[in-house]
Amino acid sequence: MADIRIHDYDSRIDLDICLAREVAAALETALRERGSASLAVSGGRTPVGMFQQLRQMRLDWSRVWITLVDDRWLPVDHADSNERLVRENLLKYQVEAANFIGLKTPAPTPEAGLTEVESALAKVPQPFDVVILGMGEDGHTASLFPCSAELETAAAVDNPKQVVAVNPTTAPYARISLTLAAIVRSRNIFLHLTGEKKKAVFDAAMDAPTERLPIARVFDAAHGVCHLYWAE
Ligand code: 6PG
Repeated sequence: MADIRIHDYDSRIDLDICLAREVAAALETALRERGSASLAVSGGRTPVGMFQQLRQMRLDWSRVWITLVDDRWLPVDHADSNERLVRENLLKYQVEAANFIGLKTPAPTPEAGLTEVESALAKVPQPFDVVILGMGEDGHTASLFPCSAELETAAAVDNPKQVVAVNPTTAPYARISLTLAAIVRSRNIFLHLTGEKKKAVFDAAMDAPTERLPIARVFDAAHGVCHLYWAE
């Protein structure tokens, strides 16, 4: 199991500022050591404030590749599209110069779009330097949903694919998600959580002796440094 470093904050704004600085520092290290850097971010509500901090960080963003850990199979201008969220909140100011690769294609289903997304992701430096995950109250992370029929394939540590199609039964929309195997290869994994309830779900998931929820499976299999950033 990964060595998880826990960072607790009194306020969400402090968390957003500190997490954005830590992510920028990891990207800076990658730029210095390898000349390019890669970042995969989550959607949902939690990361918006952190994106607004990260977009102010001075970095040679033109050498940074940004993608998503998952997206809903929706038009990219839909209110619930993660790509829209990232374009509106992160790819601004300093970060406008970054190279963005979305996970949504014009194909009618995520299953039909997988091959195109795999080839698009081949341009992104691998393994990812930084992956920022969120978590739902059911223990899903990215779109690795405990309820979905695709979970065992999506969470197989030896899955050679980077992306998988997921059809959750407890959340809206068909999804495309990074596989667990692609996530756990990352050099740095940050889990960004807010609220007591999610912290309790995370603690229980990590303590469960069997039936590991997706979030626990990620930390069980992670290779790099893992951080939990949490604020009430
Ligand atoms: C998504 C995600 C997902 C998210 C969690 C938490 O597209 O829904 O990337 O894994 O991180 O569901 O979502 P909230 O931040 O909205 O609670």
